[in-house]
Amino acid sequence: MSALPVAPFVDLSSFLSHLERTGRLHRVSKLVDKDWEIACLARWAMESTPEKDSYALLFENVKNQSVPVAVNLFSTPEMYGAALGVHSDELLMAWAKALDRPYKPVEVANGPVFDVIGTDSQLSLLKLPAPIWTPGRDGGPYLSAASVITKDPDTGIQNMGIYRMQIHDQNHVGLSFGSKLQHGAIHYSKYSKRQLPMPVAAVIGAPPVISFAAAAKTAYGVDEMEIAGGLAGSALQVVRGKTVDLAIPAQAECVIEGFVRCDALRMEGPFGEVLGYLNQSSPAPVVDVTAIYHRAAPIHHGYVQQMPPSDGHLVMEMGFLGPLWFYLTRKLGLKGVRNLAIARGSASLAILVAQIEKAHVSESARIGRALAKFNLGQKFIYLVDEDIDIRDQETLNWALSSRVDPERDIEFIKDFPTFQYDPSTLARAAKDGRELGAPPYPSSVAIVNATVKCAVPEISLPGRSVMFKALENWGETGLPPITPRKRLDRLLHTHSDPVPASDQNFDSHQG
Ligand SMILES: Cc1cc2nc3c(=O)[nH]c(=O)nc-3n(C[C@H](O)[C@H](O)[C@H](O)COP(=O)(O)O)c2cc1C
Repeated sequence: MSALPVAPFVDLSSFLSHLERTGRLHRVSKLVDKDWEIACLARWAMESTPEKDSYALLFENVKNQSVPVAVNLFSTPEMYGAALGVHSDELLMAWAKALDRPYKPVEVANGPVFDVIGTDSQLSLLKLPAPIWTPGRDGGPYLSAASVITKDPDTGIQNMGIYRMQIHDQNHVGLSFGSKLQHGAIHYSKYSKRQLPMPVAAVIGAPPVISFAAAAKTAYGVDEMEIAGGLAGSALQVVRGKTVDLAIPAQAECVIEGFVRCDALRMEGPFGEVLGYLNQSSPAPVVDVTAIYHRAAPIHHGYVQQMPPSDGHLVMEMGFLGPLWFYLTRKLGLKGVRNLAIARGSASLAILVAQIEKAHVSESARIGRALAKFNLGQKFIYLVDEDIDIRDQETLNWALSSRVDPERDIEFIKDFPTFQYDPSTLARAAKDGRELGAPPYPSSVAIVNATVKCAVPEISLPGRSVMFKALENWGETGLPPITPRKRLDRLLHTHSDPVPASDQNFDSHQG
């Protein structure tokens, strides 16, 4: 992505304009069916485009609908960083800054989200162009990018979380909590104990900072709207809901308000879970919708779910890594971790990669165990050296291939719970002769220490000075222009230069 924007974007449409200006958005004007075609076309585009060329899609002409659908907006670190106005290498720092310096939102009387207000007879969820994300398999159309706002009835503190919502009919939408520990689910259980309906507002087409903060794994009782302000670097504007007493982003594209009754569950699903397999349908809470309002010309945002790597995976990944990084470096003072990533394709969670600082490599085992304590669905924790580009799968595989003695360097933590639904949890349950119940499921973690543990030969790449000298003269070769990959840059910069070519005495070898 070319020039960075000067500041984070306060709404979704200005971010889309930025993507378009920088060649990262393609409009699809062909008439498309939201019930199968959007998911299929987007999946082909995502699967067939190298990550560096990834782009967002805006389906402008959706059959029987008047609202366009935007997908694949934040699928690469470059696009995610662009939404925050930072470089793709600075995402963890941007998160640490936001958590260090949150901003309380400012309440205003009106906002673009109130351009068109529908209550009672005008209400219909069916006017929202919610796609079926796994056509032929999902239980129905889903709002896959809803930032769901609820509040604790004891403290009044709000929470935001991205929870999928199945459209049941024109004024009922499901709410799916992945576990009873999700903060929205804790609120729901508090209202249920009081036999009170829980007020809810679901933001569709949220400003990017809202979407990012809603996916954050923060401590219970932290209002993610303030974290969103931290990511934006200033307080966000909020308006009071029309039928629920909740603060709602004034710049949102569309909001659905309603109440969740504690005695009214409906079957929800099937739907593709984060690891790329379909879960069975099960009873889930339902929102009785009381208002829908939106901008004059709203954009519907959805995440293409769910086979990894998928559209929402980086948002989920950063929602986990950002707070983890903040906690490790600013609160726990854990020394030795230089960078963190989730391996692409591991569904935002299963493979955590930690880059260990050279001076702390001898403490890798301890660092690995400390990381394992933040159990958010990891199955593998890879510990790698500073010369590895931790977002590059080829280099990770190289480190695993050349620096790991499996028997010595892999430590297993047994009986480690996970909340993720995947075939390995099913297989474990089947082996134990039981049905898989509700999460957490029994699982385990492997800490793989892929750091170099003794003096080893130099790597087999030309020295960095000759490599960069060759690059300087690239234009003279007549070859197509290149953008050097970060993996090579990192390897060349970390490894010492051998004797410069000009100082070597080749004559002695020439007989
Ligand atoms: C695209 C996307 C879809 C998600 N879908 C769900 C979901 O359906 N249910 C759920 O419990 N969490 C889901 N999550 C994860 C939660 O948003 C995440 O765990 C967040 O921290 C929840 O907020 P909370 O900690 O305030 O409960 C999703 C995240 C993303 C990025």
